[in-house]
Amino acid sequence: MATTNGMLREGALKGQVIVITGGGTGLGRSMAEAFLRLGAGVCITSRKLEVLQATAAELEKTTGGTVLPVACDVREWRDVDRMLEQVLAKFGHVDALVNDAAGNFISPTERLSSKAFETIIGIVLMGTVNCTLAFGKHWIAKGERDKKVLNITTTYAWTGSGYVVPSACAKAGVLALTRSLAVEWAKYGIRTNAIAPGPFPTKGAWQRLLPGELVEQFDMAKRVPLGRVGEHRELTDLASYLVSPFSSYINGEVVTIDGGEWLKGAGQFNMLDAVEPSMWDAIERMVRGTRGS
Ligand code: HXC
Ligand code: NAP
Repeated sequence: MATTNGMLREGALKGQVIVITGGGTGLGRSMAEAFLRLGAGVCITSRKLEVLQATAAELEKTTGGTVLPVACDVREWRDVDRMLEQVLAKFGHVDALVNDAAGNFISPTERLSSKAFETIIGIVLMGTVNCTLAFGKHWIAKGERDKKVLNITTTYAWTGSGYVVPSACAKAGVLALTRSLAVEWAKYGIRTNAIAPGPFPTKGAWQRLLPGELVEQFDMAKRVPLGRVGEHRELTDLASYLVSPFSSYINGEVVTIDGGEWLKGAGQFNMLDAVEPSMWDAIERMVRGTRGS
């Protein structure tokens, strides 16, 4: 059962400035709200300024915090540099970068053009690289320490997945980036971690991954041992912890938050969940009956 109150105490992120790419919608928006409630100043960025402005106005109203909306296509490093300049002009410093922006859609791979791959890899992998490089270089040049990069990846970053192959390739790259920089940049006081969410309903993901009747045909909750999809609060608590000082010794970790979904798919005999409990006596007799044979 998910809690309704946030995990961290009030003011846990006070004084921090956190940039969230893809922060105007979905999980990025939910993280922005959670960080604001804990006292952080937040910049939300994506391509659509009007969406960002509307989100910023709503979040400022509901939380009383400060939100800077900045249009920025993470595929364009010049955009990213300009976004960082705006953040510094507004807040004077920046403490954490959450790489949440993503692009994805389902398709048999043989239907995809090279441009389709380039688009997804451009947003997910190169977008994360562009932002991480800009922020990391800034922190290193200034000698500022105690900084955090939090990447949002997926569980198919390590299993792979058909029908979302550009995304799987890109998210695997993000995972490699996370683990590599966690070691290389630790000496600069930069912690790099990742979250691998299972299914968390958002308009952006559901429209592109479960369009039309697919949403009824493939009930995501049925894939999850806990029997349900995730609640945004569950992910935002984890994200808040990972950008907070309470996680100061966690570096290079990818935290899976999926109710056990990917392990269910991986364990060879997990399909036996489908066996009726009343069948187990007969099955046991059959198995025991094979002794000596
Ligand atoms: C085949 C497609 C396609 C489709 C686009 N393309 N959609 N090919 N099937 N359904 C091809 C186009 O034909 C084009 O190639 C190339 O991809 C680029 O498409 P554009 O539409 O020009 O790109 P763009 O306008 O930049 O839009 C990017 C987008 C779009 C990714 C296609 O969906 C978007 O803006 N998404 C942002 C939000 C999002 O995707 N959120 C979901 C994240 S969910 P050609 O060769 O024709 O020029 C997520 C969850 C993971 O990551 C795990 C869930 C459990
Ligand atoms: P979402 O609402 O569609 O979020 C994606 C965001 O990325 C949007 O705000 C979009 O805004 C932004 N974006 C796309 N292209 C961009 C670009 N070129 N430059 C800057 N911003 C760009 O979907 P979501 O479900 O919340 O996904 C958030 C993160 O969680 C993603 O990393 C996703 O892979 C991950 N995830 C989600 C789930 C899930 O079940 N929801 C599961 C696993 C992982 P604009 O269109 O305005 O640019």
